[in-house]
Amino acid sequence: MSIPLEGKTILITGASSGIGAATARACIAAGMKCVITARREDRLKTLCTELGGSCSYIAGDVTEEGFNQHLLDESGEVYAIFANAGHGLDQKIVDNNMEQFKELFRLNVFSAVELASLATKEMVKRKSGHIILNASCLSKFSVPHNSAYCGSKAAVEAIAKSMRIELKKNKVFVSTVHPIGTKTEFFKESSSRSGTEFSDFEKNSPAWLMQSPEKVADAVVRCLRRPKPEVWTSLPMRLISTLFTAFPRASGVTVNKFS
Ligand SMILES: NC(=O)c1ccc[n+]([C@@H]2O[C@H](COP(=O)([O-])OP(=O)(O)OC[C@H]3O[C@@H](n4cnc5c(N)ncnc54)[C@H](OP(=O)(O)O)[C@@H]3O)[C@@H](O)[C@H]2O)c1
Repeated sequence: MSIPLEGKTILITGASSGIGAATARACIAAGMKCVITARREDRLKTLCTELGGSCSYIAGDVTEEGFNQHLLDESGEVYAIFANAGHGLDQKIVDNNMEQFKELFRLNVFSAVELASLATKEMVKRKSGHIILNASCLSKFSVPHNSAYCGSKAAVEAIAKSMRIELKKNKVFVSTVHPIGTKTEFFKESSSRSGTEFSDFEKNSPAWLMQSPEKVADAVVRCLRRPKPEVWTSLPMRLISTLFTAFPRASGVTVNKFS
């Protein structure tokens, strides 16, 4: 069964760059209408101009009280949401800054879950809809100096799993996306937020560990057409993460080699 997407609306957070912007382009190409959001209004405006009349934007901070409800109120009938806005934090646990830790959870977890839960109210009534949450391959295993980030993505995955079972009877699909390293502004933003020197993750990583945001975007559109619980864009990483879950010591040894 392939779900026709033409004319359906998707609300995408974190669409001023990276995976969110690429997904907006891919959704428009698939015939959808897009409502895009992020804080940098100039970026949203430029993307909307590029994508034409089927794309509109609402600028703002998704962690601000009331903003997620405002997004839904202004977006009309939303078939799908892609809760994608997120950031990283490179921080050793001995240097843990609890305010930054909480701030990361406010964006990566609480805001995404709030938007999803608010959106489900109409979806459940209509008995139709799709909630997609951007997690990471790091929802399955953790790397050093990233406890807040890995914890936030594991939380998103666990919450989505519960939502998926709960909403199945209402014909609302719930999916999580598990990208590997993706060539976006993410790593630079994360370093500057953390006050750490920018170590070029993209340059220092093996090619198989990096991908384009368009690859993730195309996988998201395929998932909208044929809903599935988890979206993966790398089979090797999917197998590695399964191995790490089965043999937790392996993840400690292997990941430490990379850090
Ligand atoms: N890049 C990777 O390797 C990778 C791997 C796995 C998962 N992911 C996940 O993919 C998602 C997108 O990241 P990306 O790689 O595309 O990085 P990105 O290019 O830095 O995009 C992050 C987006 O989030 C938005 N954002 C950040 N804080 C916000 C806030 N408070 N309110 C509203 N929007 C906010 C940013 O827009 P403004 O600054 O304009 O607000 C931007 O559009 C994140 O959830 C990330 O965890 C990334």
